[in-house]
Amino acid sequence: MVNPFKPTAGKMPPVLIGRQDIVDDFAEGLDNGAGAPGRLMLVSGQRGLGKTVMLTELARTAIARGWEAYAETASAGMTDRLIAALDSAGPRVRHATIAPAIGIPGIANVQLGSVDVAASNTALDLRRAIESRLKKLPKGKGILFTVDEAQAAKIDELVAIATALQHVTVDQDLTDERDEEKRGVAFAFAALPSIVDELASNEVLTFLRRATYRELGNVAVPDVRNAFVETITAQGKSISRENAETAARATIGNPYLVQLVGYYMWQAAQARHSDAIEAQDVEYGIADALSQFPEAVCAPSYRSLSPAQQHFLRAMAPDYPSATTLSDIAERTGKSMSWVGKYRMSLERVMMIRAADWGMVEYAQPYFGEWIRSRM
Ligand SMILES: Nc1ncnc2c1ncn2[C@@H]1O[C@H](COP(=O)(O)OP(=O)(O)OP(=O)(O)O)[C@@H](O)[C@H]1O
Ligand SMILES: [Mg+2]
Repeated sequence: MVNPFKPTAGKMPPVLIGRQDIVDDFAEGLDNGAGAPGRLMLVSGQRGLGKTVMLTELARTAIARGWEAYAETASAGMTDRLIAALDSAGPRVRHATIAPAIGIPGIANVQLGSVDVAASNTALDLRRAIESRLKKLPKGKGILFTVDEAQAAKIDELVAIATALQHVTVDQDLTDERDEEKRGVAFAFAALPSIVDELASNEVLTFLRRATYRELGNVAVPDVRNAFVETITAQGKSISRENAETAARATIGNPYLVQLVGYYMWQAAQARHSDAIEAQDVEYGIADALSQFPEAVCAPSYRSLSPAQQHFLRAMAPDYPSATTLSDIAERTGKSMSWVGKYRMSLERVMMIRAADWGMVEYAQPYFGEWIRSRM
């Protein structure tokens, strides 16, 4: 019997728990024709909350509607690869290069103000590639681009994509077709929460800042319980509602932990050659899952932070599992209250901590406190 759970980065889970509203918003964006908000979507969230899987689901949604989807992970040369993929998708019809800034006021000139020429050329190439590909699609259909790990993208490349998409939208508007017949483009990108600061501080990214912003958090524990029962039964084993509830509560609704706990409790039953997942299997499953989760999720999150942010988090450890007062953090770090205020805000924005009682903060990531204490 094959284990249905998928504790692997980017792997589609057996049940996509609790994300239907995002998929619906996006699908409405596609159905509502050019200019609908859901066509430009930013999904953010900490490690393991399901960003990559979400992009895959959005691509599936688009493909099911007769759209094409092109997926990229941010890294150097991303836009060139997109152009190559678009060009090779069908017969090559290379149009003459479109002259820059052909008098569409307020777009190319203003937004490209501080971008170097290379980036604007890339944008033009991309626009050309998108438009020639769009011509081959049926009316009302379009192309979805997904970019994963966008926080690691070179700003120039994001600007090139944003610029190209904006031009394509304008060019489609210049045709006489009705909105629902226009061929369209959609762009979904996923990033760690730190990208929100990046977007806010970068002048040229105005376009991306208008994206529908969906922050992924934990999913609801009752939904996890139901998904456990459903997944396990569908694959030919059984679990009582009560045991599924215990397993679900241990996950705190963290999607990666859901897959880990599911995977290891299944393995525990399998090792006994049993078709029923019993209380003992759940217990082993939770223990095995929790032994892997911190290194897989807490450690990379911590390492992606600045030394000052890490210092702040370490100063909270002595109080864990209780919350910490801001004045204790100032005292333990030897820093001013304004330093504390500044890094408190930055850590809240990236969802590493959250406000507890008045003047207090606590860790926001599951099992982060255990992990940081274990390494101090
Ligand atoms: N909605 C969900 N329901 C159940 N499981 C999920 C859900 N979303 C993601 N998962 C599972 O969680 C794990 C992490 O998902 P994914 O790799 O998409 O996260 P991520 O946010 O992209 O992480 P990272 O920042 O490390 O790239 C995978 O094992 C995936 O199967
Ligand atoms: Mg990912």
